Amino acid sequence: MTESRSKARLVILISGRGSNMRSIVEAANQGQLDVDIAAVISNRPDAAGLEYAQQAGIDAQVIDHKLYDSRESFDAAMAEVIDSYQPDFVILAGFMRILTADFVEHFAGRLINIHPSLLPKFKGLHTHQRAIEAGETEHGASVHFVTAELDDGPVILQAKVPVLADDDADTLAARVLEQEHLLYPAAIQKLISQQTE
Ligand code: GAR
Repeated sequence: MTESRSKARLVILISGRGSNMRSIVEAANQGQLDVDIAAVISNRPDAAGLEYAQQAGIDAQVIDHKLYDSRESFDAAMAEVIDSYQPDFVILAGFMRILTADFVEHFAGRLINIHPSLLPKFKGLHTHQRAIEAGETEHGASVHFVTAELDDGPVILQAKVPVLADDDADTLAARVLEQEHLLYPAAIQKLISQQTE
């Protein structure tokens, strides 16, 4: 965090619903999280979370990946916009695009993701269904630093939930999501406290 700023500055990337972004905004508004949210950026123009961000008075931008002819050019455009906000942390909150190694390296140590599993278990998609099929009795979510490998990188904080006998992917996802909404603000606050120690 730069010395002249009292609060850490976040840029949040979303692709859809944006409920994790919302939990971060709410935690900041309630004074539980010491951050300024500089911008919310979506790679999809129809992301439901954009409207919430706009109504919350946050700079909400679309960088539509379909308008770029390569992953590299999309990531470069995104990095330029993100850099213009000079964030301390770039927060992936349901951002469903694989990022290039160059992008990840550019934001190394500042790029954070939430993943709906107890990493290193169940990287990738359909984590809830896979946890049920594997007979797990515990499942959850992880907030971690992003590295070039998918859903890898040091874990900052995890939240666990039980897997119940009659769970399907939807009931389990809902139980995990409830925890995600507490976990993400707590993990960001943990990072900020470590920076100012
Ligand atoms: C969340 O469950 C998040 O953990 C997951 O997408 C959902 C987004 O919901 N992320 C991933 O699967 C990343 N690999 P939200 O848009 O309501 O925050």
